Amino acid sequence: MFSEKDFISNLSVIPFETKSFQWSSPSNIALVKYWGKKENIVNFLGEPAKQIPANPSVSFTLNHCKTITKFDVKKTTDGNFTFELLFEGKPKPEFNQKVNQFFLRIEEYCSYINYFHFVIDTQNTFPHSSGIASSASGMAAMAMNIMSLEKSLNPEMTNEFFYQKASFLARLGSGSACRSIKGNVVVWGKHDEISTSSDLFGVEFPSQLHENFHNYQDTILLVDKGEKQVSSTIGHDLMHNHPFAEKRFEQAHTNLSALKKVLENGNLEEFIKIVESEALTLHAMMMTSLPYFILMKPNTLEIINKIWKFRNETKIPVCFTLDAGANVHVLYPENVSETVLQFIQQELVGYCQNGNYICDAIGNGSQLM
Ligand code: PMV
Repeated sequence: MFSEKDFISNLSVIPFETKSFQWSSPSNIALVKYWGKKENIVNFLGEPAKQIPANPSVSFTLNHCKTITKFDVKKTTDGNFTFELLFEGKPKPEFNQKVNQFFLRIEEYCSYINYFHFVIDTQNTFPHSSGIASSASGMAAMAMNIMSLEKSLNPEMTNEFFYQKASFLARLGSGSACRSIKGNVVVWGKHDEISTSSDLFGVEFPSQLHENFHNYQDTILLVDKGEKQVSSTIGHDLMHNHPFAEKRFEQAHTNLSALKKVLENGNLEEFIKIVESEALTLHAMMMTSLPYFILMKPNTLEIINKIWKFRNETKIPVCFTLDAGANVHVLYPENVSETVLQFIQQELVGYCQNGNYICDAIGNGSQLM
């Protein structure tokens, strides 16, 4: 098992002038949610450790909602990293600060970045400002490209190290991004029953996934495509001194234990209970923090009620989950997809902004292009 120290690479021999890489990284949807970071944790240097989750989480990696990012790197003698950021081929100064922060956070572990100028060209497969967070897929794609660069400086590295460090670096960019490196189910955060789990990076779900979850569907209903009302950085901080924080963190451990069994035994009734309760708990935490937020919209509730009614009447195991926003992820097994899609088109699309929704499914993780 790797520790923070093992991720430090001091490579200073640069055997090439230029290189190009391109990776696609998917978004992911948490089933047990990460909401809150540990406070007062120090890293091996005695500095405050960043992005250490207050509780473990687990997610489905998605298949279609992706960020595709290309790196053109050029050796320099400046002694400091420099970069240009393009979004769909055009400069996007609004993203510079995030990228700069990512480079500064990984510098300790990847000092070789200071020998390069980076031209980064990035694009999403999902519509811009769809309300789907692109930070998970975006930071994962950045981390994959950095690891391709590191591998070209150190070709001997193992695959295990490559992916584990990629997840470690992605986490420093945006916590949940560490779950967008691999598929199909990824656990992040130390949990007693998952021996490989770690606060530092995401790991593949260690057991055999029950066939009920193979190609599990996620139809994302775009209820509100506006800018996020609360950034997740501010959101996580609201769990400090939150009156229900400790109980919530305990509950996440219990829910992950229960969900682990469900992912092994295929019990969809139990799956639905845990997943919907997690989604509502996430929003309950936001409603009970100070300041408080309601990120659901009236149409979010309309959709939830329609899903409950449909499930009651048909006994089809369809359920919902939510991120920190108003959009609804509708989750269901592949063998009922025809009926559920019909239901979505007839009864739910009317609640989506401009009737927009995205059909996605569980996927395999980041891919070299
Ligand atoms: O990775 P962040 O800091 O954007 O946090 C993501 C938090 C949730 O999406 C609400 C939950 C999760 O586990 O993905």
